Amino acid sequence: MTLEAIRNRLPSEETAQEFYGRWAGLYDLIARYTPGVPRLRARAAAACRLEAGDTVVEMGCGTGANLPYLREQVGPEGTVIGLDFTGPVIERAREATSEYDNVYVLQADATRPPLAFEDADAILATFVVGMLEEPAAAVEAWCEAVGPGGHVVLANAARSEEWYAPPINAIFKTVVVLSTPPTTKLRYENDPDLRLDAKIDSAHARLRARSAAIADESHVFGVVRLTGGRVR
Ligand SMILES: C[S@@+](CC[C@H](N)C(=O)[O-])C[C@H]1O[C@@H](n2cnc3c(N)ncnc32)[C@H](O)[C@@H]1O
Repeated sequence: MTLEAIRNRLPSEETAQEFYGRWAGLYDLIARYTPGVPRLRARAAAACRLEAGDTVVEMGCGTGANLPYLREQVGPEGTVIGLDFTGPVIERAREATSEYDNVYVLQADATRPPLAFEDADAILATFVVGMLEEPAAAVEAWCEAVGPGGHVVLANAARSEEWYAPPINAIFKTVVVLSTPPTTKLRYENDPDLRLDAKIDSAHARLRARSAAIADESHVFGVVRLTGGRVR
């Protein structure tokens, strides 16, 4: 079956929340066990440059795969807040972190967070900005929220630039089409992977512009970019 045929079989009215809700179980397995990804999550949490007792917010926390790594960084005295707008993934994130009394999972829009996050020492967003209408604006708001001296860290899958890239990029394109909620419109673009790349580039570029980049790395065969910055 071609990608076009698969695309046409998918319901076009599904919202991003319904999409992630429907796939929460499968997504959780991929999020936790894809080779190379646990190491990336540990690295992303370390790039938040947290200290014991700090507060960290994860935007679009999904099923909560990053939350234990963040909890490890802030310790029992710190606070970890995971935020996502999809009910079923939040349920999983809550179950996965029920052993901690300082990890909170809230249902909210990452582009319009309900709380003032001025107390946050860092904000992390992994595999999220590509889903947002205006990724650079969201990064700008997150930089404002943590303020000077705070940290913002992004990690996102994008086309690999390594010499062995062509087969990896072909797989990446398939994953992008199948894992993108229809409402983000990326599926209906001719080159959804290029469009996603552009969104991710704009988010990472905005973070580099707003901060002293302390981490700018690629992971998982060059497919995942990690940028972490201390806001100026
Ligand atoms: C690809 S998943 C990534 C989840 C998690 N960050 C991880 O690394 O496994 C994207 C998540 O972002 C959430 N999301 C997308 N746009 C959002 C928004 N505007 N506000 C809150 N959550 C959002 C989705 O519900 C989904 O759980």
